[in-house]
Amino acid sequence: MGMDPATPPFSGFDFPHRTYGRSLMVHADCFHWLRRMPDNSIDAVVTDPPYGIREYTARELEQRQWGRTGIWRVPPSFDGNKRAPLPRFTALDAGERQTVRQFFHEWTTTLLPKLKPGAHVFVACNAFMSQLVFSSLMDGGLEFRTQIIRLVQTLRGGDRPKLGEQDFPDVCSLPRGGYEPWGLFRKPLPKGMPLRECLQVHGTGGLRRRMDGKPFLDVIPSERTPRRERHVANHPSLKPQSLMRQLVWSALPLGEGIVVDPFMGSGSTIAAAEAVGYRSIGIERHSDYYTLAGKAVPQLHALATHGATDTLSGHNGQAQLELEAGTSVEPVAHHLVVATGVDAGCDGAAAGG
Ligand SMILES: C[S@@+](CC[C@H](N)C(=O)[O-])C[C@H]1O[C@@H](n2cnc3c(N)ncnc32)[C@H](O)[C@@H]1O
Repeated sequence: MGMDPATPPFSGFDFPHRTYGRSLMVHADCFHWLRRMPDNSIDAVVTDPPYGIREYTARELEQRQWGRTGIWRVPPSFDGNKRAPLPRFTALDAGERQTVRQFFHEWTTTLLPKLKPGAHVFVACNAFMSQLVFSSLMDGGLEFRTQIIRLVQTLRGGDRPKLGEQDFPDVCSLPRGGYEPWGLFRKPLPKGMPLRECLQVHGTGGLRRRMDGKPFLDVIPSERTPRRERHVANHPSLKPQSLMRQLVWSALPLGEGIVVDPFMGSGSTIAAAEAVGYRSIGIERHSDYYTLAGKAVPQLHALATHGATDTLSGHNGQAQLELEAGTSVEPVAHHLVVATGVDAGCDGAAAGG
């Protein structure tokens, strides 16, 4: 499919790029791409960064591929299923944590001038790294608004002490993770400008309400990335469409503008934007993942068999009502997502990133 004629001439500049529908996918380092962007031009960012930094270096990816030691570890198999490697962030030493801090600080200071005032930035994280990552974004000048809690059973924590399993059978080293935090940030509104005026002038500053008119909530019942989606996009940190469509929808308060994902991976943000009818730009540095996104985005988008509108209102409505009623929330399953089998940990909720 070619580029929608309504799409503004947002450029891949001289980086390799391809289009699909309303989307632009760029093969570049996001720092380089961002520096080329005009100031005050980006309406919203929804992204899942490499928050351990090391895990997506060529060396670590090679070690992951060959099952060697490194930051990727294979979680213990407790149900007979072979599991995919997860990044082991406890392996970061003090120097590497400082590197993470510097990376996110530099990323924020590169991004900030390019955002429109009031633009929202959604950043996926995990419970172990969020304090470090979120404080770095704040130090870089973004305004912390809140966390969005994605309720999902992860494969993190819950383990007995290593080599002490027999001696301490009733102990676990960390709680078993049941959520994934997403930091919600905003470029500060111009001094003295109320939200109403920011919406008028820049089309930013607020979040879009759900399709049923209710407010967007900060707790989202979710699921591990379904096998059907993982078959389409074999990326270790693929996020489910059922989550991404809700986040992307809320990111543009007036439903106008462009959502940017500077760490596109296999393109789950871009596919979600297509599904809800938004324009988007994804940037990916790794050539294999850039190529993968080119194939995966149309297929992930095509999972919207009943259209994004039905999907979003039905999905949100049911999940939110269950939450409001205080009843237990089953993992979200709807016509978009055939949740078959156990996630092998490719999802960021389990795998990070
Ligand atoms: C955690 S993954 C995102 C996966 C995505 N959520 C998905 O559903 O496919 C982060 C991605 O950022 C890419 N990346 C890392 N550093 C980058 C940079 N400086 N510029 C662009 N992409 C980068 C990695 O190659 C990786 O694919």
